[in-house]
Amino acid sequence: MLDEGGNAVDAAVAVHFALAVCFPNAGNIGGGGFMLIHLPDGSIEALDYRETAPAGASEKLFQAADGRVVPGLSLHSHLAAGVPGSVRGLWEAHRRHGSRPWAEMLAPAIELAERGFEIDAWTAESLERARKSFTGLPEAYRRVNNFADYFTVGQGEVLRQPELAETLRRIAAEGPAGFYEGRTARLIVEEMRRGGGLITLDDLAGYEARWRPPVEGRFRDRRVVSMPPPSSGGIALIEMLNMLEHFPVQRWHSASQVHLVAEIEKRVFADRAALMGDPDFYPVPVAGLIDEVYAAERAAVIDLERKSDPRSIGAGRPRRESTETTHFSVVDRNRMAVSNTTTLNASYGSGIVVRGAGFLLNNEMDDFSAKPGVPNMFGVVGGEANKVEAGKRMLSSMTPTFVFSRDGQLEMVLGSPGGPTIFTSVFQVIINVVDYGMSLEEAVAAPRFHHQWPPPNPERDPIRCESRAGLRLMPSTLAGLRRMGYAIEEVEEIGDVQAVGIRRGRALAVSDPRRAGALRLAAAP
Ligand code: DON
Repeated sequence: MLDEGGNAVDAAVAVHFALAVCFPNAGNIGGGGFMLIHLPDGSIEALDYRETAPAGASEKLFQAADGRVVPGLSLHSHLAAGVPGSVRGLWEAHRRHGSRPWAEMLAPAIELAERGFEIDAWTAESLERARKSFTGLPEAYRRVNNFADYFTVGQGEVLRQPELAETLRRIAAEGPAGFYEGRTARLIVEEMRRGGGLITLDDLAGYEARWRPPVEGRFRDRRVVSMPPPSSGGIALIEMLNMLEHFPVQRWHSASQVHLVAEIEKRVFADRAALMGDPDFYPVPVAGLIDEVYAAERAAVIDLERKSDPRSIGAGRPRRESTETTHFSVVDRNRMAVSNTTTLNASYGSGIVVRGAGFLLNNEMDDFSAKPGVPNMFGVVGGEANKVEAGKRMLSSMTPTFVFSRDGQLEMVLGSPGGPTIFTSVFQVIINVVDYGMSLEEAVAAPRFHHQWPPPNPERDPIRCESRAGLRLMPSTLAGLRRMGYAIEEVEEIGDVQAVGIRRGRALAVSDPRRAGALRLAAAP
């Protein structure tokens, strides 16, 4: 797209549609996301195309009559799907800033869907795992889950998606009406009827993407700009960076550095649980949370030598004014840049394909708090601020971000998947560059860790570390953390950062070695 004279927004929109075809794991038209746009004149805009709760949704949607949260309902049933935002969002970004005709945005995706593409090893394995997990669901969910009907391909085979190609053709010809009205909308509503879901024609026709003012902070001599609510990501990232500034730089990946970051993360997650949600429904104290004085107060009680008891942690009192996702970063020759994170939530979303339309529906409703204090699939909790309400956007952690150098030049465009590990991953990449002098490539490839609050079991205070060879923390760091009273919880990997770094006028694409971001697709002959 860039070679053909398109700008960064054109390229981002085309990439997004192409990912909807060849990365069904998270690329989507049945989900939503956030796009941060840097314009050549230096201004920055944030576009929110997050899914919304259907009009028929309400606070107790995922609770049984006795008040218990029904396991799996917000993840695997038709109720799991929020009203998709992607197509309206991409249209809106393109309408405001695109330079090439709309239909060109969809042409590569249509071709990939129609002619198919060859399934690589990474995708084959991921599809196999998804098929197993969706067919292993309890009977009630298995019945309505049609994932395997659409995705029964193995490595080296060609995946063709004719229904999806037709849906994309309608979007190419009619714009958002090709998705939110007419045949595609009817197919979505029929799918809802089959599985007892809530999305109606009115929900679809009424969906709007929103332009929002980005959040902004400073870290050392850098300017950091990121996504505002309904993502918690930008606020959390800036709050973490603000708190970190109150401490001397610790030795990289020493027990004391990991401990310090974990203490910061506990406080940020407590704030997230109590104070963040859709700003159209709940007054999120954005300015208070990213305020440097607030961070100083929060940081003042952190002890570098001793870990706190997670039970002693709660949300602060900021000043009040009156599992699967994908990220891509684009920079064009005029320094127009896009940082975009988009998701179906879990890997392959709900696993429910809209029959006849050929795309996967998200299970983003699980990002709401089904009941105060009850953790969602990522172990995060919430309450009033993030309860289910008709038309509301569920709280996200997605963190599309720009970092500017001390002379105001765009220096990094970055973001990641990983649920609540998104903003902690983005945070680590930034401090690896700024505080530890790494190149962006080293900073992205380096091992990561994560701590979140509240812990599943209050007796334990687990720090999540990567277990893959080459991604482990040093044994002395792990021993030091255990001595301080932390439990170590191993996970295979954390995050998948896709970034562009700009240095001395040259842009360098950096794809996380953890997953398949740099993989080349073989188009079918
Ligand atoms: O919006 C959010 O924060 C989540 N729905 C993102 C899910 C995700 O990153 C899953 N990927 N690993």
